[in-house]
Amino acid sequence: MAAQTGRALSAGVIGDPIAHSLSPAIHTYWLKEHRIDGTYVPIRVPREDFADSIRDLHQKGYRGVNVTLPHKEAAFALANWKDEFATKTGAVNTLVFEKNQIKGYNTDVFGFAENLRASLNPVESYIDSCLVLGAGGASRGIIQALLSLGARQIFLSNRTQSKAQQLVEEFQSLTSGASPVSCIAWENRHEPLRDVSLVVNATQLGMIGQPELDLRLDTLSKHAAVTDIVYKPLKTPLLVDAEAAGIRVADGLGMLLWQAALGFEMWFGPKPTVTAALRRHVESFL
Ligand code: ATR
Repeated sequence: MAAQTGRALSAGVIGDPIAHSLSPAIHTYWLKEHRIDGTYVPIRVPREDFADSIRDLHQKGYRGVNVTLPHKEAAFALANWKDEFATKTGAVNTLVFEKNQIKGYNTDVFGFAENLRASLNPVESYIDSCLVLGAGGASRGIIQALLSLGARQIFLSNRTQSKAQQLVEEFQSLTSGASPVSCIAWENRHEPLRDVSLVVNATQLGMIGQPELDLRLDTLSKHAAVTDIVYKPLKTPLLVDAEAAGIRVADGLGMLLWQAALGFEMWFGPKPTVTAALRRHVESFL
């Protein structure tokens, strides 16, 4: 039991819908583990009420919040200060309330990179050349994370090619020499498989209720790895196929756990760890 100090620290997660968020399970686990007198609650806020409810929570003395759909861009606009990855991705998923300002962070980039580091050892041998499928909200951060880990070449393929092309151009403008990111037509997405060491599903395909991602892995090297941002189910059809072919996988839950660690530290103090016990606890809520 945490000591009851009468000065409980509060944080939460804001989204709409929010009932199925796993973040309360993660943070409540760490609060108990570190014997902190604190709470972390889900807060459902419709799009139009976001700014008012942030002001209200700030005034009430909350330490900050995680921000999820549909508020990540609004959180970016509202933050007075932003970290490097929030600035680069245009999306904020973590707000930290200080006396006279609200700081915005994007911890998804760190979460994706740390999950790869923890699941694929040594990560350097998997990330030289990567295929990323999807050019939606998650992809920009994933590409940032791959580049920060040292990726030399990233093939990006998306059903709507113009969105992939736009991302390619954004990354091109950030680099002086040849761009590490190039676009592959969706119907040609199998072509880079024989050359890449990592495949990332950054679409929602494979999620419960969604169609499967159609990707045949027969030309992918046995020394490559596959990762998925989808974690419901934990083992997506893509990851099941990869494991059946003897290819290493990193599931999407790890990214969620690792991104949560940064917010916890900023709001509550201690640096939490992502352990097998935490994973088992959170998996019981899936
Ligand atoms: P997120 O924030 O999770 O990335 P998003 O921005 O809606 O969500 O992006 C969803 C991604 O899944 C997009 O890359 C989308 O492709 P489009 O840009 O063509 O919409 C991809 N996606 C969703 N359904 C798909 C389908 N049936 N086939 C192929 N790609 C799909």
